[in-house]
Amino acid sequence: MEKAFWFNSWELEGHYTSFHRKDIHPYAIKHLPPFALEGKTVLVPLCGKSLDLLYFSRFAHQVIGVEIVEKAIIQFFEENQLAYRQIGSRFVSGNITILCRDFFYLNREDIGSFDLVYDRASLVALPEPMRMRYLQTLEWLSPVGTLYFLNTLEYAPILKTPPFSISPAEVASYFPNYVIDHVECPMLPDHGMVRKFNLTHLKEHGFMMRKLYDSPVLIDIDELMETAW
Ligand SMILES: C[S@@+](CC[C@H](N)C(=O)[O-])C[C@H]1O[C@@H](n2cnc3c(N)ncnc32)[C@H](O)[C@@H]1O
Repeated sequence: MEKAFWFNSWELEGHYTSFHRKDIHPYAIKHLPPFALEGKTVLVPLCGKSLDLLYFSRFAHQVIGVEIVEKAIIQFFEENQLAYRQIGSRFVSGNITILCRDFFYLNREDIGSFDLVYDRASLVALPEPMRMRYLQTLEWLSPVGTLYFLNTLEYAPILKTPPFSISPAEVASYFPNYVIDHVECPMLPDHGMVRKFNLTHLKEHGFMMRKLYDSPVLIDIDELMETAW
């Protein structure tokens, strides 16, 4: 989506930021338990003010969020009573750093090294070709061996607004250089979107993935830059 879409959403709040959960996502607790986080640096792209950041900060070594809307970042720290300091575009509190930056323009020096990517409501927030550009950014930021926990929604009929429906087959095509373990796929008949959009069904998938090798097919980033935003 256009940047303005997200700034507007955070300005209006209410149902415009209904992606924000008031709890820690159960998939994070189930699939990324404390022992799996020990000593790890977790990258949370497009983090919003997710409480999952708090969970990771408790058990991981470092947490790095990336969020373009400063208001969301400030709300995260204030609502969780966390004292923070701002150094340029970095907001830091203990082992949590949130970069107030456009994810698509980050390089390895901005992020530093990380072991695990946590993606809930991030990939599904982006339409094509922005989704491809997001994947490309992650591809060149992520070293071989990186773990990636991905959460997607799959539903029908298809909507033209986020969150977009992404199937397991699409996930497989987006991550050909990853080994993929499809760990969750419950049908959620009581999900708020089912009622709101009169969906016939909705599944919430969870994928635990590990990067095996660098992708030999590098998408031309300059070409993507021209088409996105
Ligand atoms: C659907 S929300 C999901 C937030 C969070 N992952 C969660 O689970 O609550 C997507 C977030 O990405 C942010 N965002 C969108 N485009 C971005 C970009 N290019 N760079 C950084 N953040 C971005 C939006 O402001 C929004 O907070």
